[in-house]
Amino acid sequence: MGTSLANSPNVLGSICELPTESALPRAACVLADLVKEPAFLGSQIVPLLGEARYTECWYVASRYEAHDGAHSLQVFVWPPGTGTRIHDHSSWGAYACALGTVLEERYDRLDDGSKAEHARLRKAWQLHWSPEGGTSTVLSGDGGIHRVGNPGTTPAVSVHIYGPHTEEVDGRDYDPSRDYVCDRTEG
Ligand SMILES: [Fe+2]
Repeated sequence: MGTSLANSPNVLGSICELPTESALPRAACVLADLVKEPAFLGSQIVPLLGEARYTECWYVASRYEAHDGAHSLQVFVWPPGTGTRIHDHSSWGAYACALGTVLEERYDRLDDGSKAEHARLRKAWQLHWSPEGGTSTVLSGDGGIHRVGNPGTTPAVSVHIYGPHTEEVDGRDYDPSRDYVCDRTEG
């Protein structure tokens, strides 16, 4: 990638071998440094802005996967007004904004998960994340139910690191308007 990550190809691999409680803060540090790195910003992030102005949905612009699936680094582009559904992940994750600002809404799950396709959520907090604002982290499953989007008027770009999957599915999507949850079937 022409960055410190390329110079240390095993950095993420080593981090992702650690238990979650050790891996997550280390991944957060890697991201905090990466999104401030001029070479990374110039080569991987700034060129995305041109396309972002003409795109209506958020998308993953680049994805770097470990051969064994133990980790993944992904660059997300958030055109103005775009955002995800409420979802979780079957891995831990960390992300930092490299350009612009994203809004994250985080949710607590109130039910015990015993009823199929049922989930009752309560909004816990929301925060704006910008390059100066640090790194957001999520645990797998109920420990990281969130929605991320860009309510602003200029594009945002964020960089995400995901650890090893703990389940076959990528994660779940939630619809709190009908207390519904299902396995995610698309990227
Ligand atoms: Fe997410």
